[in-house]
Amino acid sequence: MSFASFPRASLAHLPTPLAEMKRLRAALENEGVAAPRLFIKRDDCTGLAGGGNKTRKLEFLIGEAIAQGADTVVTTGALQSNHARQTAAAAVAAGLKPVLVLLDMVPYKGRAYRRSGNRLLDDLLGAEVRIVPEGANPAAFIKNTLDEISSSGGKPFFVPTGGSNATGSLGYAAAYFEIADALDALGISSARIVHGSSSGGTQGGLVAGAALRGKGPAIHGINVYRADHAAMMADILKLARATAEKLGAPALADDAIILEDGFLGERYGMPTDAMVEAVKLVARSEGILLDPVYTGKAMAGLLALIRAGRFPRDETIVFLHTGGMPGLFAYEEEFAAQDA
Ligand SMILES: Cc1ncc(COP(=O)(O)O)c(C=O)c1O
Repeated sequence: MSFASFPRASLAHLPTPLAEMKRLRAALENEGVAAPRLFIKRDDCTGLAGGGNKTRKLEFLIGEAIAQGADTVVTTGALQSNHARQTAAAAVAAGLKPVLVLLDMVPYKGRAYRRSGNRLLDDLLGAEVRIVPEGANPAAFIKNTLDEISSSGGKPFFVPTGGSNATGSLGYAAAYFEIADALDALGISSARIVHGSSSGGTQGGLVAGAALRGKGPAIHGINVYRADHAAMMADILKLARATAEKLGAPALADDAIILEDGFLGERYGMPTDAMVEAVKLVARSEGILLDPVYTGKAMAGLLALIRAGRFPRDETIVFLHTGGMPGLFAYEEEFAAQDA
């Protein structure tokens, strides 16, 4: 089945740039590290209201919502969800009403966390924001929201956390072709894609895309989400299999998922020193802004793996920048405090 056979809304600026990070590699070599060739795939530049990886998924999800005749898009995420912000923008761009059910699930106490960053942008985009009250069951709260919209004559379309179902993951199956074709054009045959993994749709989609294409770079997710590593691997594999099946790709082996652990820190959304170091290093060597929750921790993981000699010097790494820059403003105290 080709990507063209699925309903798709045009939301993203594609292809996103693929750029070499020569200065970051030089900074590592100055430390005496034998660093591989480093590229960055700029999915922070997908273009929709601040960009990010969710835009690729939302092209297929909003396509499905329109095909089903929906008039309202409901989704869920943490207070600083990049996914919720991009879903709100995608809904507006498609003429649909955005409703965001947000969970106060990260115990980060910074002053800006509740007001700035993505939360500010959700309001600016005109989203209706409902915060799940403390002690309430999030699934029941979401169901009530959907029922309420339906009973008042609306037609809601629900987008799951992170846009991570087989429809959303089509966006990253297609992205795999974009990356692998670009590497082929550069004559690079031995490469790995490294990225932050959370709800799993990005990794599941990439892995399904790899199965469909048959050859190309390996995929390393870096766990920035769950302490239960085995459960997360199992969920990503399930999603990759569902996406591969939707595309008619060959079946995936049980060991198809590579998920690196050890970079989450205390928990999802809580800063680590290594994240702050990675965000600063990439900003100051390449002029590229990462984020505190996903790409900063993913880059911290990549740097640690390179420093530990995991990737040979003649290999190429493509770091997938999945976006999230607005989150920097929500964590302003973290970065300021580290410099004080
Ligand atoms: C900036 C950013 N990077 C990475 C991810 C992780 O992607 P996925 O949920 O598809 O694993 C997210 C998800 O919210 C994100 O917002």
